[in-house]
Amino acid sequence: MDDIAVGPLDLAARVDDALAVQAVAFGLSAEEVGVRRHIVLRHLTCPGARALGATTGDGRLVGFVYGMPNDRAHWWSTIVEPYLRATGYENWLDDSFVITELHVHPAFQNRRIGRTLITSITADADEPRSILSAVDRESPARALYRKLGYQDLARQVHFPSAPMPYAVMGAKLPLLG
Ligand SMILES: CC(C)(COP(=O)(O)OP(=O)(O)OC[C@H]1O[C@@H](n2cnc3c(N)ncnc32)[C@H](O)[C@@H]1OP(=O)(O)O)[C@@H](O)C(=O)NCCC(=O)NCCS
Repeated sequence: MDDIAVGPLDLAARVDDALAVQAVAFGLSAEEVGVRRHIVLRHLTCPGARALGATTGDGRLVGFVYGMPNDRAHWWSTIVEPYLRATGYENWLDDSFVITELHVHPAFQNRRIGRTLITSITADADEPRSILSAVDRESPARALYRKLGYQDLARQVHFPSAPMPYAVMGAKLPLLG
């Protein structure tokens, strides 16, 4: 990733560029992009919300990550809480930095950009651990998270309106190299 710089991202200013990356990396319809846009902008008003971007030399955004200290009152937390209570990991909702989104444009994947983004954003977290959710199937994302030390805290987690079940994963910080 010699020609790619990873650094702080003004995600509110670059939200459309970021969602364009997410749309092609993760698969979002135009309608879903519109919904996500509101959600991202609302997330950015949360205390401690931070974003990092991966940009080419000419300023093109090709990857991003954002997250925040977990808040049990947030929608995501209220959905996963009963699943984590059932598996005995509910306390992971406290003192955790939650990774809300991580996406790298397919043309730039497998160049350690995703790894650098998530390792860098969690390196600056005050919290001793990190949690996230990922579609509950074998994928580059699940493989990457496991390599970094994330373990399954709950599986087959159903979010309203999401067709696929998710796994909730957690890792102690700092992440494994
Ligand atoms: C997950 C994602 C962000 C990873 O970004 P990336 O820049 O391609 O990942 P990296 O190059 O940093 O890869 C890091 C590790 O992930 C694993 N990995 C990456 N691509 C993989 C693949 N196609 N198959 C299996 N493992 C893979 C490797 O183990 C790799 O480890 P290594 O660096 O020791 O070789 C990217 O694949 C992506 O955007 N996917 C689609 C969107 C998505 O699923 N986002 C996560 C939502 S929870």
